[in-house]
Amino acid sequence: MRAVLVIDPGRSLGRVSPLLYGHFIEHFHRGVYGGVFDHNSPLSDTRGLRIDVAEAIRALHPPVIRWPGGCFASAYHWRDGVGRARTPVFDKAWRVEEPNSFGTDEFLRFCALVGAEPYICTNAGTGSAEEMSSWVEYCNLDGEGSRARMRTANGFAEPHRVRYWSIGNENYGSWEIGAKSAAEWGRFVREAAKAMRSVDPSIELFAASTPDIEWNLALLREAGEYLNWISVHAYWDPLWETNEPAPYERCMAYTRAIPRTIEQTEHILGALGFLGRIKIAVDEWNLRGWHHPHRWSSTEDYLTPRGLNDINSTYTMADAIFTACFFNESLRHCTTVGMTNFSPLVNVRGLVYAHREGIVLRPTYHAFSLYANRMSGEVVDTWAEVNPEFTVDAAAEEPTVASIDAAATLDRSKGRLHVAIVNRHPELPVDLSIEIRGPGTARSARLYRLESPSPDSYNDVDAPETVATRCEDIRLLEPRGITLSVAPHSVNLLELPLIPPAT
Ligand code: AHR
Repeated sequence: MRAVLVIDPGRSLGRVSPLLYGHFIEHFHRGVYGGVFDHNSPLSDTRGLRIDVAEAIRALHPPVIRWPGGCFASAYHWRDGVGRARTPVFDKAWRVEEPNSFGTDEFLRFCALVGAEPYICTNAGTGSAEEMSSWVEYCNLDGEGSRARMRTANGFAEPHRVRYWSIGNENYGSWEIGAKSAAEWGRFVREAAKAMRSVDPSIELFAASTPDIEWNLALLREAGEYLNWISVHAYWDPLWETNEPAPYERCMAYTRAIPRTIEQTEHILGALGFLGRIKIAVDEWNLRGWHHPHRWSSTEDYLTPRGLNDINSTYTMADAIFTACFFNESLRHCTTVGMTNFSPLVNVRGLVYAHREGIVLRPTYHAFSLYANRMSGEVVDTWAEVNPEFTVDAAAEEPTVASIDAAATLDRSKGRLHVAIVNRHPELPVDLSIEIRGPGTARSARLYRLESPSPDSYNDVDAPETVATRCEDIRLLEPRGITLSVAPHSVNLLELPLIPPAT
């Protein structure tokens, strides 16, 4: 099969947000305890943070990490998680005991260890504007008032200076503790925002949203003037109740739906006059919805199934390709999407699987690493002039998917063009001709190939590198053209040093 890709480094679509490749950790199952934090592990440091996990995360250069939830946040009281004596509480969201040994100060230390900015999601379920704003006091005031002094007494004389704060999590959903109506939500967000901003006017505020016009009309009319971001979530394979992961072809069909949440939110912001002033944060996203069935069951069957989230064979090359397509779409929307947070970072459906003896880097980790470490600077115009399609669902209204999905970024300071090329086809390679328009050409290129023996390949404890990235240098026969073959079910990243035009 043959495809033709055109790249025009002279046509910039906008800048890649430095917060685009973000993360999320939640107190759910082994996401925090047994994931990033494990006091009993010989692999942890003296404060209980898993060093091997932290090193794998550092290698992704995480710009921002959101915490503590998710649904967990909507009944979480931050004071339970600070100070020398921690009070275990009952976590009403996930119906387990929360030891509170990992709280605000441990989270901020974890962020410092991996080099990420912290992003705190506050409790707009059972919480109040007072509790939210007092959390800002604890983290950001130098020493004024009892909460800042509490932090100092806890051993942190310097303020933590947390810049990113979300008001609530999915408070529109009946599943959320303390869910609210659209009218209630607009007023609540306004009053919480005023209280939080009165403590620290420099913070950036997010509010839980969903692409619903009624919800956002109330939210933005009442509180739009206080918000910097709107928070939306997206999962495509609905595994909450039934853990039957979609097969490869259906996952490729799901890649077609990626633009929907982003575009719906753009249209709502535009209709209400906030496009360009309020940025979009897709601050929870994953191909796979988490599995937590029978959440309100009266028996133990709400707990046992959660272990199914940790099965590594669930996370195949389909997940890596979906991750790449999600970032390609986010790059195409670089003027409106300012942050995304993979949900979650460790264990559950995460990039990293942590077990007693070590870690497994799932295929999604390797795709994430290619983008987070190279796709930065400016997004430049890229389109396919020839793009063979394949059928993913003959009965569907749209039965086919294009094989190639690509995006390109230009780092002018380094004179480097990066082209991310996904071949979604499950069986066939694609012979790709790439034309680079405009001045500046390259004579050589480096090609990173994330490939696997089959579309369903995965990494596991006993076979941690079945899916891995390899690198090769290629010579360019023509100064503006490249031909290369991309393997079936693969993510490829081309790095081209651009030779500036003779002046
Ligand atoms: O399935 C996990 C949950 O997904 C998160 O806690 C919540 O924010 C979202 O509904």
